[in-house]
Amino acid sequence: MKRFLVLAVAVTALVAQAQGFPGSKPIVVVVPFAAGGPTDLVARDLTLAMRKSLPGANFVIENVNGAGGTIGAGKVAKASPDGHTLLIWHIGMASTPSLYRKLAFNPLVDFDFLGVVNEVPMTLIGKPQLPVNNYHDFENYIRANRGKLNMAHAGLGSASHLCGLMWQSAINAREAMNTLPFGGTAPAMTALVNGQVDVMCDQTTNTAVQIETGRVKAFAVTTSERLNHPTFLKNYPSLKEMGLNGFNLTIWHGVYAPKGTPAAVLKQLNEALKLALKDPDFIRKQEALGAVVVTDSRIEPAGHKAFVASEIAKLKPLIEAAGKFAD
Ligand code: MLT
Repeated sequence: MKRFLVLAVAVTALVAQAQGFPGSKPIVVVVPFAAGGPTDLVARDLTLAMRKSLPGANFVIENVNGAGGTIGAGKVAKASPDGHTLLIWHIGMASTPSLYRKLAFNPLVDFDFLGVVNEVPMTLIGKPQLPVNNYHDFENYIRANRGKLNMAHAGLGSASHLCGLMWQSAINAREAMNTLPFGGTAPAMTALVNGQVDVMCDQTTNTAVQIETGRVKAFAVTTSERLNHPTFLKNYPSLKEMGLNGFNLTIWHGVYAPKGTPAAVLKQLNEALKLALKDPDFIRKQEALGAVVVTDSRIEPAGHKAFVASEIAKLKPLIEAAGKFAD
């Protein structure tokens, strides 16, 4: 009888907590890269949509950059599991275990999973002054200028770093370029547009407008097939079309809470996330920039966790073949 009473009290407390959630306390969403980049953009658009079904929720974006996103992720792993600290991060959750000997967190142990949000293709782009205008000339130019060109990325384990690693390996030009880390691909893009760096591989959510306005040159997309984007993005060949058979890289973003967040709070947040993924405004914004909003089982916590586990296993041999860098 006593055990029943203890359980009843615990459940009541959890329900009360969830009913009180989010209350007046802000929900801090950690973006582990600088403001203005692809991760920041999806976080801001997603929380704007989530707010529609969490009236009164005060989402606050906190940009915590460094070490390819692992600084921000580590902060959330150690945060209080009360639902008021969340992480939005991308494929780095699955690539960093194979890129860092020491991580401040274990992806499958230190987080509760809220769902996968989107899938975003990447584009290989160059500064406007590059004297080439198609992919093959671009690749030949890099070979001819081995060691002289600078490739920007957002740190070891970032999507832009992973793309550069896999692409240079695929064209047998490992370390053909100097790699320059930035706090995110927003500052990296500024450097590229200004001609301070030469090359970058980044998500269309950050490159689409720059390509369309001619502020950068685009050479290829990293998906296995061309993008069926309604406008200009469909004009660029896939790397597979350019002879890099099997090259297929799409960046996905997921939402996480610290392990131990009350189940009722996780359920409330996941419900708000799923409604946001059906929000027409959110979908329109994402699709306009080449992204696809997820609708399959990965929008559920169990599906999200299973997907991350499969991505960790998939990326490990690819990263080791591409020549991972020790931290
Ligand atoms: C990446 O390269 O990992 C992201 O584009 C970084 C960012 O969101 O700024």
